[in-house]
Amino acid sequence: MTELIVALDTHRQEEAKAWVKELKKVKFFKVGMELFTAAGPAMVSWLKEQGKKVFLDLKFHDIPNTAGRAVAAASRMGVDLCTIHAAGGPEMLKACREQCGETRLLAVTVLTSLDQESLGHIGVNRPVAEQVAALARLAFEAGIHGVVCAPTELPLLSQFPRDFLRVTPGIRPAGSAAGDQKRIMTPAEAARAGASHIVVGRPITQAQDPAAEAEKILAELREA
Ligand code: C5P
Repeated sequence: MTELIVALDTHRQEEAKAWVKELKKVKFFKVGMELFTAAGPAMVSWLKEQGKKVFLDLKFHDIPNTAGRAVAAASRMGVDLCTIHAAGGPEMLKACREQCGETRLLAVTVLTSLDQESLGHIGVNRPVAEQVAALARLAFEAGIHGVVCAPTELPLLSQFPRDFLRVTPGIRPAGSAAGDQKRIMTPAEAARAGASHIVVGRPITQAQDPAAEAEKILAELREA
């Protein structure tokens, strides 16, 4: 079944903790750059003490030695899922894979904020879809456990085995505001398209009743 991950997108540790306490039925939380920069490893340890799983979304991209050692540090903290940039290249991907221990690694292919024109500015001239598929293949061949992708990119990943993880943000429950998310799907649509995990932030954390909203999404995933 597709798992729900709630994004703790805040720099206020107390706010993040209040969300986690309120969302009793949610087992998996994402700590991104904002929260990790503000609250550090203590936030990850606290989540683990609460019995939660942690997705550390820091998108490492550096020389192989540095990125590999950062992944090893994440693994020592008990992180369950950790992102790295596929654009770091095969040597970086392999160094991370060798040092990840029990942590499963997700490769970021092309950020959803980059369109064809912005890719051109960084010297990538092939179509976005081709770039996504090529970077996913590079990650797969380096032994990386899965990718982060827009739900609309899931069909590009049909060439990979089912246990290759497909983690998708850009989820909006039917009837909610799209915000700045462009390529969106509902939780059930993403589940049916093959997502192993969906990442949902504001539709839950900014809801009138976050626990009820999370339960609605969990029910939708169970029925998908
Ligand atoms: O939009 P929402 O609050 O549900 O975002 C959840 C996560 O999705 C964010 O933590 C961010 O990493 C990711 N995101 C994205 N593309 C956007 C906006 C957010 O991938 N345009």
